[in-house]
This record gives sequence, C-alpha cells and structure tokens, in this order.
Amino acid sequence: MNTLSFELYKQLRLYRKKMKNKPSLQNAYDLKSPDDNIKLYSVWAETYDTSFIDDMQYKLHFAVAEEFILNGGKGLILDVGAGTGALAEALLQKEKLCIEATDISEEMLKVADSKYIYKRSFLSDLTKEIPVNNNHYDGVVSSGTFTHGHVGPSAIGELIRVTKPGGLITVSINEKHWISLDFESEVEKLNPHIKNCVLKKISIYSKASKHNHKDDKAIILTIKV
Ligand SMILES: C[S@@+](CC[C@H](N)C(=O)[O-])C[C@H]1O[C@@H](n2cnc3c(N)ncnc32)[C@H](O)[C@@H]1O
Repeated sequence: MNTLSFELYKQLRLYRKKMKNKPSLQNAYDLKSPDDNIKLYSVWAETYDTSFIDDMQYKLHFAVAEEFILNGGKGLILDVGAGTGALAEALLQKEKLCIEATDISEEMLKVADSKYIYKRSFLSDLTKEIPVNNNHYDGVVSSGTFTHGHVGPSAIGELIRVTKPGGLITVSINEKHWISLDFESEVEKLNPHIKNCVLKKISIYSKASKHNHKDDKAIILTIKV
C-alpha cells in the first residue's frame, strides 16, 4: 500500500468508527455486546427523546403501558432497560404507581432521574443477574429493550425470578428478534413458573411515520407469574 492509500485507509477506518457510535436505530440494531450498548447510549442519552421518540414517532411504550394496566398491573414495579423513562411516563399517565428503573447506561438513567418519575434507579446488565432479591416486585415492564443488538431471551427467567408469585410481567420484544432468537422456546422452558401467558402483535411506530422502520412490529408478552 503506498502512502496516499494508507492515509485514505486510516481516514476511512476512523470515519467508520465514528459512524458506528453515531446514535441511530440502525447502529443500535447492529450492536454486538453490552459494552457496545453502554457506548452508544452514553452518546445518545441527551437527544434520545427528541431524535428517536419524537422524530421517529415511537409509540411502543404506550402499548406496553396499556397492556400492563389492562391486565391488572399494580404495586411496586420495575422498568427494565428503562432508558430515559418513556414507559414510566406512559404508565403514570394512566395510574398512580410506584416504579423503579434499571438500565445498563448511566447516562440514560441520569436523564430519567431528572424527570423525577422513578422511586429509585440502579444500574444492571440484563444479560447477567439483576441485583435484586427473589419475589421482590409486584410487576416488571419493559419497552424497546428486547430487540436486535440489545437483550435476548435469557433475561426472561430473571424477570420471573424478581417478580412475586401472582405478579405481572409485560415486555415488548421486536418481532424479528422474537423469531431469530427463538423467544418462544425460552417461554416454553419457563412454563413451570408461569400461570398464564398472552402474546399480542402491535406496531412500534405511529402510522404517520415515514422512515425505513415504520412498519416494524413488536410482540407484547404478558406473563402472570
Ligand atoms: C431502545 S432503548 C429503550 C428505552 C426505553 N425503555 C424506551 O422505551 O424508550 C433500549 C435501552 O436498553 C438499555 N440496554 C441495552 N442493553 C442492556 C442490558 N444488557 N442491560 C440493561 N439495559 C440494557 C439501553 O441502555 C437503553 O436504555
């Protein structure tokens, strides 16, 4: 490689590295590890509400909140992968609830904390153990976190572990992620710990949205423990 093409090669690598950490839905879907998630969301936190929720007309959190309340969710709730708190805001518009937040990104939780909607927030990696005792919460909720490049089916068992018997779990799972990582088998495996389980398919974005992912769907999984 001559000097000029080596310089070009170096610049291209730098550009690709920069673009990888640029907040966007595609870059979020392409993440490979929890550390990648920490990096991307530390950059995205400040503008996530405007550049993603508002501009892309994301509405998944409203559907999860509705389903959780419809199924009788109440008491002390844990929002996993809470991000900047969109789901808690949607829940609190409907009911007076006591909600705690957990997320792998300190910066996302900082934005959530600034809204004074959570009783407390704490860091956790959902691909590992959640630092909470068994049977602690009356309910667990999540929107947008079980998706490509983020969290897979192995975390569902942890959600069940921290939920009291008789409690309720309502989480969204990106439809293609549900199929490619075979969430159905994981739910079947956990059947002895599940009293009832309901699936619903819904749109992630508003009908009026115009971007490439506008027709993407999610499964809302509701589990009675
Ligand atoms: C698309 S955002 C969804 C945030 C919020 N629930 C919403 O609906 O707007 C995904 C969130 O999952 C978090 N996340 C990604 N991987 C995680 C992991 N392994 N453990 C905990 N949280 C994680 C990210 O930090 C981010 O806040």
